[in-house]
Amino acid sequence: MGDTVRIAVSNQKGGVGKTAVAINVAGALNDRGHDVLFVDLDPQGNATENLGMRDVYDEGPPSLFDVLSDAEKRHHVVDLVREHEEMDVIPSNIDMTAIEPELTLSRRSGQQLSLTLEHVDHEYDYVIIDCPPFLGNLMDNALYAAQNMLIPALAETTSKRAFELLFDHVSALEKDYDIRIRERGVVINRIDVRKNQAREMVAWIEDAFDDTPVWKVRERAAVQRAMTNGTSLFAEAPECDQLPSFREIARGLDEQFRRRRVSHD
Ligand SMILES: Nc1ncnc2c1ncn2[C@@H]1O[C@H](COP(=O)(O)OP(=O)(O)OP(=O)(O)O)[C@@H](O)[C@H]1O
Ligand SMILES: [Mg+2]
Repeated sequence: MGDTVRIAVSNQKGGVGKTAVAINVAGALNDRGHDVLFVDLDPQGNATENLGMRDVYDEGPPSLFDVLSDAEKRHHVVDLVREHEEMDVIPSNIDMTAIEPELTLSRRSGQQLSLTLEHVDHEYDYVIIDCPPFLGNLMDNALYAAQNMLIPALAETTSKRAFELLFDHVSALEKDYDIRIRERGVVINRIDVRKNQAREMVAWIEDAFDDTPVWKVRERAAVQRAMTNGTSLFAEAPECDQLPSFREIARGLDEQFRRRRVSHD
């Protein structure tokens, strides 16, 4: 197996399904036999809670805040990794709500996550980073560390503006750091096929992203339910009809990164 693949699940628009997509893509990659590290970079800690680690969110230091804001503490990231039945997790923490100004003050403000992950991520096939819903230092850190992004979006006209803002930001970051950030796919999430607007937006997105895979996930109560129960659909609702969509995303990522499905039996 080659180097670890890091993917940032990003869209500064709130509530589009970043966390749901991140958890279920991580679950799908695990289902294909890969070792997955999940990083909850969102100070809200939704993924941390949705992976059953609410108590860790409220724990005192050291937390993700400490390893990202203090280079001397960076190597302690290994102690932050928690085991979940489907993946390993670096949980978010209440202290992360204060990280933005800390990162602004630090040297190499956009590179802290990348430097931190170097201490821990060599043993994984994939690192999935759940981003916060704003364009700030955390998002820059995720994009710099991963240089690959998976973009969840809703089938609504407001998504056009969200894409514009995101890609302007990504271009600026690429210039600043002399890097190339690749779009590995768009996941149109919570599609309600009964709505005309949804069908029109799906067509618009497919047209706008002609070189990028566009995957589709429908609105399903099971997605929410699995998260409430602390897992992906793969552990909680294997009968859900959206499982094939997440399987397809994992397969598509494997294809782009030339990875094979690994069988453990
Ligand atoms: N396919 C789906 N079907 C039904 N509910 C969904 C689906 N995807 C996400 N949801 C629900 O929609 C809400 C928003 O999703 P989620 O938290 O994943 O979005 P987000 O982009 O991570 O939000 P934030 O910007 O706050 O981080 C959650 O309650 C989630 O359970
Ligand atoms: Mg989220």
